[in-house]
Amino acid sequence: FENLLLTGRHVLITAGPTQENIDPVRYITNHSSGKMGFALAEAAAEAGARVTLVSGPVHLPTPDRVERIDVVSARDMLAACEAAMPCDLLIAAAAVADYRPEVVAPHKLKKNPANGEGMLLQLVRNPDILATLAKRPDRPFCVGFAAETDNLLEYATRKLLDKNLDLIIANDVANPNIGFNSEENAVSVIDRQRHETRFDQASKGHIARQLIAFIADRYQ
Ligand code: C5P
Repeated sequence: FENLLLTGRHVLITAGPTQENIDPVRYITNHSSGKMGFALAEAAAEAGARVTLVSGPVHLPTPDRVERIDVVSARDMLAACEAAMPCDLLIAAAAVADYRPEVVAPHKLKKNPANGEGMLLQLVRNPDILATLAKRPDRPFCVGFAAETDNLLEYATRKLLDKNLDLIIANDVANPNIGFNSEENAVSVIDRQRHETRFDQASKGHIARQLIAFIADRYQ
């Protein structure tokens, strides 16, 4: 497979989960493996693009000819993306934590009998990386992901419009054969005319190459 649809283009991709610290030994995160984002980075590089991959903590090798920037939290991920701008295309495949603890305790939190059996952790909203970059004057062509367990197409379309995206890739994470942490995926891409294009179940590498060809075609 070698097509050079993206020669001369800078593609910025976010991937993996973010980790939001509670104290020096604990954090909040999610089940994202980073596989889909890394597969997209590899496919974009194969298509001739200069690729910057901003990744949360994952256990994956860096694809050839891809510049990888490792980050931990959502705020780190936003800062790394802003530093990597401008880009022509942004593909946000990261599963960014929506909330983080309001304060990160400087010391390991102790069980406190005075609080009884419960414990309250105050959370605050994280910045939306994709929506923030989609609002910039140098806005790239913006592609998001919507991982949902129900009402997939309805929620995905709403996100496309709310975040001002060009395309959204909808992913049914209730199906254990695809999505989070699995080797295969099946997705639907929705555009601003609400037209849906389906990509049937296949390896994440195969889906990524099809998606990059589709995205490059729409970008042009
Ligand atoms: O709202 P939700 O998290 O489902 O949005 C999914 C899309 O938005 C994904 O493309 C994800 O990478 C991106 N996102 C982001 N920053 C956030 C939350 C989501 O870039 N804080």
